[in-house]
Amino acid sequence: MIFRSFGNTGEQVSLLGFGTAPIGLTGYQDPQFDQRRSEDESRAALHAAVGAGITFFDTAPAYGNKVITGPWSTDRAAERLLGSVLAQYPRDGFFVATKNQFDRLDPAGIRESLEESLRLLKTDYVDLFQVHGIVAKPFRADNWQAFVTEEVLTTFELLRKEGKCRYIGISGYREGGLCAAIETGRFQAVMPQFNLFYRGPELELVPIAQDRGVAIIPMRPLTGRLIFKLWQELDAGGAGQTDPIAIAMRYICSFAQVATMPVGMRTVREVEHNVRVLDQLHRESCASATTSDKA
Ligand SMILES: NC(=O)c1ccc[n+]([C@@H]2O[C@H](COP(=O)([O-])OP(=O)(O)OC[C@H]3O[C@@H](n4cnc5c(N)ncnc54)[C@H](OP(=O)(O)O)[C@@H]3O)[C@@H](O)[C@H]2O)c1
Repeated sequence: MIFRSFGNTGEQVSLLGFGTAPIGLTGYQDPQFDQRRSEDESRAALHAAVGAGITFFDTAPAYGNKVITGPWSTDRAAERLLGSVLAQYPRDGFFVATKNQFDRLDPAGIRESLEESLRLLKTDYVDLFQVHGIVAKPFRADNWQAFVTEEVLTTFELLRKEGKCRYIGISGYREGGLCAAIETGRFQAVMPQFNLFYRGPELELVPIAQDRGVAIIPMRPLTGRLIFKLWQELDAGGAGQTDPIAIAMRYICSFAQVATMPVGMRTVREVEHNVRVLDQLHRESCASATTSDKA
């Protein structure tokens, strides 16, 4: 496994990470996928990831089946599954990232959300606690603080002082808000949408993150399956044997500030394949990164 620095924190994380949205959400990326019938397969995939040396795991309260107590409440299936697997290994071998519950962005709600994450993840702390950006809310440079208020940020920082999380991050779809947030110097990590098909972060976010020593965790590093659909189309025209995963990984790995790619995976086969692809890229020196001149 290849490891990279996690921004300026002094931590190292596996370049291939495990994104747990697909194992928690029924129908995520695949309308046929039934989370409740697939838990054994998901656990096997998580064990395979540990066996392959993956240390970075990204999860969230939102990655679960909807329950009726609130508009964004879920049964947090992904956190529960991840906790049940990681509890079988030494805790300090992993870097676990979670987020706050979408609809509880107030001090008590943030705290309760993290406490519940810790219970399900069977741990006293998470390594990274991220603000879970909401797509529906505008999250621009000029108004991100209306959403992530000083009170919200102070609550995250207090939880860090209490040792319940080691670092603080922010995720979201609008680079403007994310750039303004990381410029404050109060976040150690940022999770923008960033992949071969969505290259917006190249312009501003990457250089700012690099300048501030903030770790970038690209959401949807494999384009959330779009590249597979494109490949199917191209194959009809004779695209040959090129592996689209290698192409997507090669792009995102080329940014030095990208600390880890939390690829969404569900099966042992996918884990093993992705480990092999990254290994091959590494051997071909294609997974080596360049710095800001890339942007
Ligand atoms: N903060 C946020 O708001 C936010 C938003 C989106 C995502 N994220 C994070 O980013 C992670 C990754 O995003 P994502 O899961 O949406 O997209 P992604 O990693 O770009 O792509 C994941 C999809 O690729 C497929 N895949 C993976 N390996 C494969 C292989 N070897 N062969 C064939 N297919 C393969 C998976 O298919 P299967 O479904 O068949 O396994 C999965 O659905 C998420 O899991 C989550 O942790 C965060």
